[in-house]
Amino acid sequence: MNLIEKVMQSQQLNKAEIVEVLLGDYSELANAADSVRKRYVGDEVHLRGLIEFSNHCKQNCCYCGLRCENREVDRYRLSPEEIVAEAKLAKALGYRTIVMQSGEDDSYSVDKMTAILKQIKSMDVAITLSIGEKTYEEYKAYKEAGADRYLLRIETTDQSLYHKLNPGMRFENRVRCLEDLQRLGYEVGSGCLIGLPGQTLESIAEDILFFKEFPLDMVGLGPFIPNPATPLADCGSGNLELSLKVIALIRLLMPDINIPATTAMETLDKTARFRALQGGANVIMPNVTSLSYRKKYQLYPGKSGIDDTPQKSRAVICEKVLALGRTISEGYGFRNNK
Ligand code: 5AD
Ligand code: SF4
Repeated sequence: MNLIEKVMQSQQLNKAEIVEVLLGDYSELANAADSVRKRYVGDEVHLRGLIEFSNHCKQNCCYCGLRCENREVDRYRLSPEEIVAEAKLAKALGYRTIVMQSGEDDSYSVDKMTAILKQIKSMDVAITLSIGEKTYEEYKAYKEAGADRYLLRIETTDQSLYHKLNPGMRFENRVRCLEDLQRLGYEVGSGCLIGLPGQTLESIAEDILFFKEFPLDMVGLGPFIPNPATPLADCGSGNLELSLKVIALIRLLMPDINIPATTAMETLDKTARFRALQGGANVIMPNVTSLSYRKKYQLYPGKSGIDDTPQKSRAVICEKVLALGRTISEGYGFRNNK
């Protein structure tokens, strides 16, 4: 029995076996992931409307264009009214989940955030937050105000690499955040970057085991893309094929979770998000942020879809999803399709 057959039967692999699969051929892995995806989560693709509501960030991650030391960024912050208006537009376009993403921006007080969440929740949508490391009390307040899910990538489980690339941040605190979110009843999503300078295949295997062990409800990942305005400007990009392999393998190890096909992949290859959908992924997060702001939310250069209106982004994605023989979900898209 080869390793792909083994993981399909047992949903388990050890670290050495994961490395071996990642060194192997993609096509057999992608076919296996596609059939497991179909069996466990079906043909529906869940679309989440992404609102990038502030590009202010107090953190200084070495890979990210929004890091506080980057003076080249034209910083913006949407008012609560603007955020609610964008959510309304997303809902009108057909989204059943709104993803609210920002840098770590403390200017939104708990009261302000909970008021925004309550207004958006009254539109009958699921809400995902992606706003970084907060206290247990803050997470609790947001959950009570209507947030359903939370995305917080662990970025890398290699702690020495983590501390090198995320100055001032603590790996233990990131894990604490994920644990708090899980305890509070959020659907929890995490993920990692693929191809960070100094990252090994063994360390990616550890990331995968961490996701499985946690266990997460969603795993999102993409290749590292060097940003010229950061200290990692001169490093090489992460490998797209390796990113696709990791997605496929995660589908085999965690068959019923939600896995997005991420925008970072698309930066390296226009077709990559749709390749990911054919190799294990079942979620896409089209951008609904208004164009003038979206251009300023540059974690990495070459972000795709930067000139498409929210209407156009959705239409293009729907058409491609249908062309793959898949359907657009009309549900909220919780794990296990609730
Ligand atoms: N390349 C790819 N992904 C990046 N992110 C931040 N900077 C980059 C980059 N240069 C990812 C991080 C973060 C998510 C919001 O964006 O993983 O968690
Ligand atoms: Fe801030 Fe997130 Fe970028 Fe880090 S990755 S600098 S926390 S926006």
